[in-house]
Amino acid sequence: MNVKDKKVIITGAGAGIGAASAKLFAKHGAQVVCADLNIENAKAIAEEINAAGGKAVSFEVNVAKYEQVEAMIKFAVAEFGQLDVIVNNAGIGPRKLSKTAKHDLEDWDRVISVNQTGVFYCMKLALQQMVEQGHGNIVNIASLAGLKASGSNISYSASKFAVVGMTKSAAMEYGSKNIRINAVCPGYTQTNLFNQLITARPDIGELFKNLTPMKRFGEPMEIAEAVVWLASENTSFITGQTITLDGGLGL
Ligand SMILES: NC(=O)c1ccc[n+]([C@@H]2O[C@H](COP(=O)([O-])OP(=O)(O)OC[C@H]3O[C@@H](n4cnc5c(N)ncnc54)[C@H](O)[C@@H]3O)[C@@H](O)[C@H]2O)c1
Repeated sequence: MNVKDKKVIITGAGAGIGAASAKLFAKHGAQVVCADLNIENAKAIAEEINAAGGKAVSFEVNVAKYEQVEAMIKFAVAEFGQLDVIVNNAGIGPRKLSKTAKHDLEDWDRVISVNQTGVFYCMKLALQQMVEQGHGNIVNIASLAGLKASGSNISYSASKFAVVGMTKSAAMEYGSKNIRINAVCPGYTQTNLFNQLITARPDIGELFKNLTPMKRFGEPMEIAEAVVWLASENTSFITGQTITLDGGLGL
């Protein structure tokens, strides 16, 4: 995959899909800002990349805070001179799974502020830089829950449908500016977020595995492969699309 020397920000790079993506970008010769709320984890991933001969730096960010996202974009441009790619991956789920009538208001605000508003802030500010430099590429991490119904999970569902909508609308706006914007929609993938879900509802782990045609969950690196591919020169005519990686569950 051709991402050599690309300057990349990945939000939520301290764990899971973001960490796998950071490592894969670096393996293919990109230079990476590992941005995360958990700076210790982000630093550890950047150190691992540098120890393996890649190039990465870390940055502490809460994507739900506009000024912090602004500082992250400025940091990347100061560090690398430009911003070729941003992967908007940071995301959370509700603390409690409950049907819509009982959905916790605090959970609604938290999930929407990180998964939806956070992606909007990152897109808005990255696009300003990308328009100015004349090129760019955005990969948003949505979810199978952004394409299909998702029970007891209304805040997450709303936020991920929004990510798909923002991806398509912005791709239409910026196609003529040499900026591509796509989304990846993972199904159940073995990360901390996923472990929280099956710890809260052990019954659904086995259920979803059985419902999945491939009879297994995804690995973070399998999702990262699609992220890096969409950000690469190999996909130069793809924009406004979603790619689902779910072992067939959505079928
Ligand atoms: N794991 C799955 O099954 C699955 C399925 C579909 C979609 N996704 C999506 O993939 C993305 C990554 O999830 P994951 O499974 O790797 O989760 P994870 O919990 O393993 O990692 C998420 C990372 O994001 C960081 N983060 C959380 N809130 C943040 C904030 N406000 N600002 C900056 N960083 C923040 C966390 O510190 C963590 O390092 C999320 O958007 C998630 O919704 C995951």
